[in-house]
Amino acid sequence: MPRTEFISTGFYVPERVVTNDELASIMDTSDEWIRTRTGITERRWAANGQMTSDLAVEASKVALDRAGLQPSDLDCIVLATLSGDYFFPGGGVYLQRKLGITDIPCLDVRNQCTGFLYGLSIADAWIRTGQYKRLLLVGAEVHSTGMDLSTKGRDLSVLFGDGAGAVILGPTEDPGRGVLSTHIFADGRYAELLFCDLGGCAHTPRMSHEHLDAGLHFPVMHGKEVFKHASTKMPDAVKLALQANGLTTADIKVLIPHQANLRISEMVQRQLGLRDDQVYNNIQRYGNTTAGSIPIALDECLQDGGINRGDLVMFAAFGSGFTWGSAAVRW
Ligand code: ACO
Repeated sequence: MPRTEFISTGFYVPERVVTNDELASIMDTSDEWIRTRTGITERRWAANGQMTSDLAVEASKVALDRAGLQPSDLDCIVLATLSGDYFFPGGGVYLQRKLGITDIPCLDVRNQCTGFLYGLSIADAWIRTGQYKRLLLVGAEVHSTGMDLSTKGRDLSVLFGDGAGAVILGPTEDPGRGVLSTHIFADGRYAELLFCDLGGCAHTPRMSHEHLDAGLHFPVMHGKEVFKHASTKMPDAVKLALQANGLTTADIKVLIPHQANLRISEMVQRQLGLRDDQVYNNIQRYGNTTAGSIPIALDECLQDGGINRGDLVMFAAFGSGFTWGSAAVRW
Protein backbone atom coordinates (compact mmCIF):
# COMPACT_ATOMS: atom_id res chain seq x y z
CA MET A 1 0.00 0.00 0.00
CA PRO A 2 1.34 3.48 -0.78
CA ARG A 3 1.70 6.02 1.98
CA THR A 4 0.20 9.52 1.91
CA GLU A 5 2.55 12.40 1.26
CA PHE A 6 2.09 16.14 1.55
CA ILE A 7 2.53 17.36 -2.02
CA SER A 8 2.20 21.05 -1.14
CA THR A 9 0.86 23.49 1.43
CA GLY A 10 -0.55 27.03 1.47
CA PHE A 11 -2.28 29.44 3.79
CA TYR A 12 -4.25 32.63 3.73
CA VAL A 13 -5.22 35.08 6.45
CA PRO A 14 -7.36 38.20 5.98
CA GLU A 15 -5.55 41.54 5.71
CA ARG A 16 -7.10 43.16 8.75
CA VAL A 17 -4.83 42.92 11.79
CA VAL A 18 -6.61 43.30 15.14
CA THR A 19 -4.27 44.03 18.02
CA ASN A 20 -4.93 43.41 21.70
CA ASP A 21 -5.12 47.18 22.18
CA GLU A 22 -7.91 47.39 19.59
CA LEU A 23 -9.87 44.74 21.52
CA ALA A 24 -9.23 46.70 24.72
CA SER A 25 -10.94 49.66 23.08
CA ILE A 26 -14.20 47.69 22.60
CA MET A 27 -14.30 45.49 25.74
CA ASP A 28 -12.84 45.45 29.22
CA THR A 29 -9.52 43.67 28.61
CA SER A 30 -5.87 44.60 28.16
CA ASP A 31 -2.84 43.70 26.08
CA GLU A 32 -1.10 42.59 29.27
CA TRP A 33 -3.97 40.22 30.31
CA ILE A 34 -4.20 38.64 26.86
CA ARG A 35 -0.45 38.23 26.35
CA THR A 36 0.16 36.82 29.81
CA ARG A 37 -2.72 34.29 29.67
CA THR A 38 -2.56 33.30 25.99
CA GLY A 39 0.64 34.57 24.31
CA ILE A 40 -1.48 36.25 21.61
CA THR A 41 -0.51 39.75 20.45
CA GLU A 42 -2.72 40.08 17.37
CA ARG A 43 -5.10 38.14 15.12
CA ARG A 44 -6.73 38.62 11.70
CA TRP A 45 -10.39 39.37 11.09
CA ALA A 46 -12.18 38.79 7.80
CA ALA A 47 -13.46 41.76 5.82
CA ASN A 48 -17.20 42.40 5.65
CA GLY A 49 -18.75 39.62 3.59
CA GLN A 50 -15.55 37.53 3.46
CA MET A 51 -16.66 33.98 4.22
CA THR A 52 -14.86 30.82 5.29
CA SER A 53 -14.92 29.47 1.71
CA ASP A 54 -13.28 32.73 0.51
CA LEU A 55 -10.37 32.19 2.89
CA ALA A 56 -10.25 28.48 2.02
CA VAL A 57 -10.08 29.12 -1.71
CA GLU A 58 -7.17 31.57 -1.34
CA ALA A 59 -5.19 29.07 0.74
CA SER A 60 -6.04 26.32 -1.77
CA LYS A 61 -4.80 28.40 -4.72
CA VAL A 62 -1.42 28.85 -3.02
CA ALA A 63 -1.14 25.08 -2.44
CA LEU A 64 -2.24 24.32 -6.02
CA ASP A 65 0.28 26.82 -7.47
CA ARG A 66 3.12 25.36 -5.44
CA ALA A 67 2.20 21.84 -6.59
CA GLY A 68 1.96 22.97 -10.22
CA LEU A 69 -1.61 21.66 -10.31
CA GLN A 70 -4.91 23.01 -11.62
CA PRO A 71 -8.16 22.71 -9.63
CA SER A 72 -9.29 20.21 -12.29
CA ASP A 73 -6.45 17.89 -11.23
CA LEU A 74 -8.10 17.40 -7.80
CA ASP A 75 -10.19 14.28 -7.26
CA CYS A 76 -11.50 15.03 -3.75
CA ILE A 77 -12.01 17.95 -1.34
CA VAL A 78 -12.16 17.69 2.44
CA LEU A 79 -13.00 20.89 4.32
CA ALA A 80 -12.69 21.06 8.09
CA THR A 81 -14.51 23.99 9.69
CA LEU A 82 -16.93 24.81 12.48
CA SER A 83 -17.82 28.10 10.82
CA GLY A 84 -19.20 27.15 7.41
CA ASP A 85 -20.69 29.86 5.20
CA TYR A 86 -24.23 28.59 5.84
CA PHE A 87 -25.91 26.17 8.24
CA PHE A 88 -26.24 23.78 5.31
CA PRO A 89 -24.95 22.70 2.90
CA GLY A 90 -21.49 22.35 4.37
CA GLY A 91 -18.71 24.64 3.19
CA GLY A 92 -16.96 22.07 0.96
CA VAL A 93 -19.27 22.66 -1.98
CA TYR A 94 -18.73 26.43 -1.79
CA LEU A 95 -14.98 25.89 -1.84
CA GLN A 96 -15.43 23.56 -4.82
CA ARG A 97 -17.60 26.12 -6.64
CA LYS A 98 -15.08 28.90 -6.03
CA LEU A 99 -12.34 26.65 -7.43
CA GLY A 100 -14.48 26.29 -10.56
CA ILE A 101 -14.76 22.52 -10.51
CA THR A 102 -17.61 20.00 -10.36
CA ASP A 103 -18.29 16.30 -9.98
CA ILE A 104 -15.74 15.43 -7.31
CA PRO A 105 -16.73 14.60 -3.71
CA CYS A 106 -16.64 17.33 -1.04
CA LEU A 107 -16.55 16.08 2.52
CA ASP A 108 -17.29 18.42 5.42
CA VAL A 109 -15.55 17.67 8.70
CA ARG A 110 -17.07 19.10 11.90
CA ASN A 111 -14.54 18.32 14.58
CA GLN A 112 -13.56 21.84 15.59
CA CYS A 113 -9.92 22.27 16.65
CA THR A 114 -9.21 18.60 15.80
CA GLY A 115 -10.89 18.95 12.40
CA PHE A 116 -7.67 19.03 10.42
CA LEU A 117 -6.45 15.79 12.02
CA TYR A 118 -9.80 14.05 11.56
CA GLY A 119 -9.66 15.16 7.90
CA LEU A 120 -6.09 13.94 7.56
CA SER A 121 -7.03 10.57 9.03
CA ILE A 122 -9.83 10.07 6.48
CA ALA A 123 -7.74 11.41 3.60
CA ASP A 124 -4.88 9.09 4.52
CA ALA A 125 -7.16 6.04 4.52
CA TRP A 126 -8.64 6.99 1.12
CA ILE A 127 -5.24 7.61 -0.42
CA ARG A 128 -3.66 4.43 0.93
CA THR A 129 -6.49 2.35 -0.49
CA GLY A 130 -6.14 4.04 -3.88
CA GLN A 131 -9.52 5.79 -3.81
CA TYR A 132 -8.12 9.28 -4.47
CA LYS A 133 -4.77 10.55 -5.73
CA ARG A 134 -4.93 14.35 -5.52
CA LEU A 135 -6.89 15.33 -2.42
CA LEU A 136 -7.26 18.91 -1.19
CA LEU A 137 -7.58 19.11 2.61
CA VAL A 138 -8.37 22.52 4.05
CA GLY A 139 -8.92 23.82 7.58
CA ALA A 140 -10.56 27.24 7.61
CA GLU A 141 -12.52 29.47 9.97
CA VAL A 142 -14.19 32.86 10.22
CA HIS A 143 -14.69 33.36 13.96
CA SER A 144 -14.76 37.15 14.11
CA THR A 145 -18.42 37.48 13.10
CA GLY A 146 -19.59 34.80 15.56
CA MET A 147 -18.18 36.01 18.87
CA ASP A 148 -19.59 38.11 21.67
CA LEU A 149 -17.39 41.20 21.44
CA SER A 150 -18.77 42.71 24.63
CA THR A 151 -17.00 42.27 27.97
CA LYS A 152 -19.30 39.30 28.67
CA GLY A 153 -17.66 37.30 25.88
CA ARG A 154 -14.07 38.44 26.44
CA ASP A 155 -12.73 35.09 27.69
CA LEU A 156 -13.38 33.61 24.24
CA SER A 157 -13.30 36.54 21.85
CA VAL A 158 -9.70 37.50 22.63
CA LEU A 159 -8.53 33.99 21.72
CA PHE A 160 -9.88 33.46 18.23
CA GLY A 161 -8.83 34.65 14.77
CA ASP A 162 -9.76 34.01 11.15
CA GLY A 163 -7.62 32.09 8.66
CA ALA A 164 -7.24 29.08 6.38
CA GLY A 165 -4.57 26.49 5.69
CA ALA A 166 -4.57 24.01 2.80
CA VAL A 167 -2.59 20.90 1.91
CA ILE A 168 -2.61 18.72 -1.17
CA LEU A 169 -2.16 15.05 -0.40
CA GLY A 170 -1.35 12.14 -2.66
CA PRO A 171 0.25 8.68 -2.70
CA THR A 172 3.99 8.12 -2.49
CA GLU A 173 5.65 4.82 -3.33
CA ASP A 174 8.65 5.74 -1.14
CA PRO A 175 8.16 3.41 1.86
CA GLY A 176 10.23 5.64 4.13
CA ARG A 177 8.06 8.73 3.75
CA GLY A 178 4.57 10.06 4.31
CA VAL A 179 1.92 9.80 7.00
CA LEU A 180 3.11 7.15 9.46
CA SER A 181 0.05 7.19 11.71
CA THR A 182 -3.03 9.08 12.78
CA HIS A 183 -4.79 8.66 16.12
CA ILE A 184 -8.10 10.42 16.72
CA PHE A 185 -10.35 10.43 19.79
CA ALA A 186 -13.48 11.97 21.28
CA ASP A 187 -15.32 12.13 24.60
CA GLY A 188 -18.82 13.56 24.29
CA ARG A 189 -19.29 13.78 28.04
CA TYR A 190 -17.59 17.16 27.81
CA ALA A 191 -19.53 18.52 24.82
CA GLU A 192 -20.97 21.55 26.65
CA LEU A 193 -17.62 22.75 28.02
CA LEU A 194 -16.84 24.46 24.70
CA PHE A 195 -20.15 24.88 23.01
CA CYS A 196 -22.50 26.95 20.87
CA ASP A 197 -26.15 26.36 21.70
CA LEU A 198 -28.05 27.74 18.71
CA GLY A 199 -28.39 26.57 15.14
CA GLY A 200 -29.26 22.90 15.63
CA CYS A 201 -32.58 21.15 16.33
CA ALA A 202 -32.27 21.31 20.13
CA HIS A 203 -34.66 24.28 20.24
CA THR A 204 -38.10 24.73 18.68
CA PRO A 205 -38.11 27.12 16.97
CA ARG A 206 -34.43 26.75 16.31
CA MET A 207 -33.83 30.44 16.87
CA SER A 208 -36.03 33.06 18.52
CA HIS A 209 -35.70 36.69 19.58
CA GLU A 210 -35.46 35.44 23.18
CA HIS A 211 -32.58 33.14 22.27
CA LEU A 212 -30.73 35.96 20.59
CA ASP A 213 -31.39 38.32 23.50
CA ALA A 214 -29.89 35.67 25.81
CA GLY A 215 -26.82 35.43 23.54
CA LEU A 216 -27.27 31.69 22.86
CA HIS A 217 -25.79 32.17 19.38
CA PHE A 218 -22.38 32.91 20.94
CA PRO A 219 -19.93 30.17 21.91
CA VAL A 220 -19.25 29.56 25.61
CA MET A 221 -16.26 27.89 27.22
CA HIS A 222 -15.16 26.55 30.57
CA GLY A 223 -11.59 27.79 30.11
CA LYS A 224 -9.95 26.03 33.04
CA GLU A 225 -11.38 22.60 32.11
CA VAL A 226 -10.38 23.07 28.46
CA PHE A 227 -6.88 24.04 29.57
CA LYS A 228 -6.57 21.01 31.85
CA HIS A 229 -7.76 18.47 29.27
CA ALA A 230 -5.87 20.01 26.33
CA SER A 231 -2.57 20.00 28.16
CA THR A 232 -2.83 16.29 29.01
CA LYS A 233 -4.64 14.83 25.99
CA MET A 234 -2.26 16.34 23.41
CA PRO A 235 0.93 14.93 24.99
CA ASP A 236 -0.83 11.58 25.51
CA ALA A 237 -1.73 11.47 21.80
CA VAL A 238 1.84 12.32 20.81
CA LYS A 239 3.20 9.55 23.07
CA LEU A 240 0.80 7.10 21.43
CA ALA A 241 2.02 8.10 17.97
CA LEU A 242 5.66 7.68 19.02
CA GLN A 243 4.92 4.29 20.55
CA ALA A 244 3.00 3.10 17.47
CA ASN A 245 5.99 3.92 15.27
CA GLY A 246 8.78 2.75 17.59
CA LEU A 247 10.07 6.33 17.96
CA THR A 248 11.02 8.61 20.85
CA THR A 249 10.69 12.35 21.49
CA ALA A 250 14.34 12.70 20.40
CA ASP A 251 13.24 11.67 16.89
CA ILE A 252 10.80 14.60 16.57
CA LYS A 253 12.16 17.39 14.37
CA VAL A 254 9.15 19.54 15.00
CA LEU A 255 5.86 19.24 16.86
CA ILE A 256 3.13 21.45 15.44
CA PRO A 257 0.44 21.60 18.11
CA HIS A 258 -3.00 23.07 17.45
CA GLN A 259 -2.58 26.73 18.30
CA ALA A 260 -5.11 26.90 21.15
CA ASN A 261 -3.20 29.06 23.56
CA LEU A 262 0.58 29.52 23.87
CA ARG A 263 0.41 28.45 27.53
CA ILE A 264 -1.19 25.14 26.49
CA SER A 265 1.56 24.60 23.87
CA GLU A 266 4.20 25.32 26.53
CA MET A 267 2.58 22.82 28.86
CA VAL A 268 2.51 20.18 26.09
CA GLN A 269 6.18 20.88 25.37
CA ARG A 270 7.08 20.48 29.06
CA GLN A 271 5.10 17.25 29.44
CA LEU A 272 6.96 15.77 26.46
CA GLY A 273 10.36 17.18 27.47
CA LEU A 274 10.86 18.84 24.08
CA ARG A 275 13.35 21.64 23.40
CA ASP A 276 12.11 25.05 22.20
CA ASP A 277 13.39 24.35 18.68
CA GLN A 278 11.23 21.17 18.54
CA VAL A 279 7.91 23.02 18.88
CA TYR A 280 6.48 25.48 16.36
CA ASN A 281 4.05 28.18 17.49
CA ASN A 282 2.58 31.13 15.62
CA ILE A 283 -0.52 31.83 17.72
CA GLN A 284 1.16 35.09 18.75
CA ARG A 285 0.26 36.56 15.34
CA TYR A 286 -2.94 34.74 14.37
CA GLY A 287 -4.76 33.75 17.55
CA ASN A 288 -6.61 30.44 17.59
CA THR A 289 -7.85 29.65 14.08
CA THR A 290 -9.33 26.27 15.13
CA ALA A 291 -9.32 23.88 12.11
CA GLY A 292 -7.00 26.30 10.29
CA SER A 293 -4.31 26.44 12.93
CA ILE A 294 -2.25 23.31 12.14
CA PRO A 295 -2.09 23.77 8.34
CA ILE A 296 -1.31 27.50 8.74
CA ALA A 297 1.49 26.74 11.20
CA LEU A 298 2.74 23.89 9.01
CA ASP A 299 3.02 26.15 5.99
CA GLU A 300 4.81 28.90 7.96
CA CYS A 301 7.17 26.35 9.49
CA LEU A 302 7.99 24.99 6.02
CA GLN A 303 8.52 28.50 4.59
CA ASP A 304 10.81 29.29 7.56
CA GLY A 305 12.95 26.27 6.58
CA GLY A 306 11.96 24.39 9.73
CA ILE A 307 11.20 21.10 7.96
CA ASN A 308 13.39 19.17 5.51
CA ARG A 309 13.02 15.91 3.60
CA GLY A 310 13.25 12.98 6.02
CA ASP A 311 12.31 14.98 9.14
CA LEU A 312 9.75 13.59 11.58
CA VAL A 313 6.87 16.06 11.89
CA MET A 314 4.32 15.52 14.64
CA PHE A 315 0.87 17.11 14.84
CA ALA A 316 -1.36 17.22 17.93
CA ALA A 317 -4.75 18.80 18.48
CA PHE A 318 -7.46 19.18 21.08
CA GLY A 319 -10.80 20.93 20.94
CA SER A 320 -14.52 21.14 21.41
CA GLY A 321 -16.34 17.81 21.71
CA PHE A 322 -13.96 17.08 23.40
CA THR A 323 -11.99 15.76 20.45
CA TRP A 324 -8.24 15.24 20.19
CA GLY A 325 -5.57 13.39 18.29
CA SER A 326 -2.13 13.24 16.73
CA ALA A 327 -0.44 12.42 13.45
CA ALA A 328 3.15 11.46 12.69
CA VAL A 329 4.57 12.28 9.26
CA ARG A 330 7.98 11.45 7.80
CA TRP A 331 8.52 14.46 5.52
N1 ACO B 1 -9.53 40.19 29.69
C1 ACO B 1 -9.49 40.53 30.98
N2 ACO B 1 -10.00 39.76 31.96
C2 ACO B 1 -10.56 38.60 31.59
C3 ACO B 1 -10.63 38.17 30.26
C4 ACO B 1 -10.09 39.03 29.29
N3 ACO B 1 -10.11 38.73 27.99
N4 ACO B 1 -11.24 36.99 30.22
C5 ACO B 1 -11.54 36.66 31.48
N5 ACO B 1 -11.14 37.63 32.31
C6 ACO B 1 -11.26 37.70 33.75
C7 ACO B 1 -12.35 36.84 34.31
O1 ACO B 1 -13.59 37.50 34.22
C8 ACO B 1 -11.91 36.63 35.71
O2 ACO B 1 -12.25 37.74 36.47
P1 ACO B 1 -12.76 37.57 37.99
O3 ACO B 1 -11.63 36.90 38.72
O4 ACO B 1 -13.03 38.96 38.41
O5 ACO B 1 -13.99 36.69 37.91
C9 ACO B 1 -10.38 36.61 35.61
O6 ACO B 1 -10.07 37.21 34.34
C10 ACO B 1 -9.81 35.23 35.63
O7 ACO B 1 -10.63 34.42 34.82
P2 ACO B 1 -10.32 32.93 34.64
O8 ACO B 1 -11.30 32.32 33.71
O9 ACO B 1 -10.10 32.30 35.98
O10 ACO B 1 -8.92 33.07 33.91
P3 ACO B 1 -7.90 31.96 33.59
O11 ACO B 1 -6.65 32.25 34.34
O12 ACO B 1 -8.50 30.59 33.69
O13 ACO B 1 -7.64 32.25 32.08
C11 ACO B 1 -8.22 31.51 29.88
C12 ACO B 1 -8.70 32.24 31.14
C13 ACO B 1 -7.07 32.27 29.26
C14 ACO B 1 -9.38 31.46 28.90
C15 ACO B 1 -7.76 30.11 30.32
O14 ACO B 1 -8.74 29.48 31.09
C16 ACO B 1 -7.41 29.29 29.15
O15 ACO B 1 -6.45 29.56 28.47
N6 ACO B 1 -8.15 28.20 28.92
C17 ACO B 1 -7.95 27.40 27.77
C18 ACO B 1 -8.92 27.83 26.82
C19 ACO B 1 -8.40 27.83 25.43
O16 ACO B 1 -7.26 27.99 25.14
N7 ACO B 1 -9.33 27.68 24.58
C20 ACO B 1 -9.00 27.71 23.21
C21 ACO B 1 -10.11 27.22 22.48
S1 ACO B 1 -10.26 25.54 22.71
C22 ACO B 1 -9.05 24.90 21.91
O17 ACO B 1 -8.63 25.40 20.92
C23 ACO B 1 -8.47 23.72 22.51
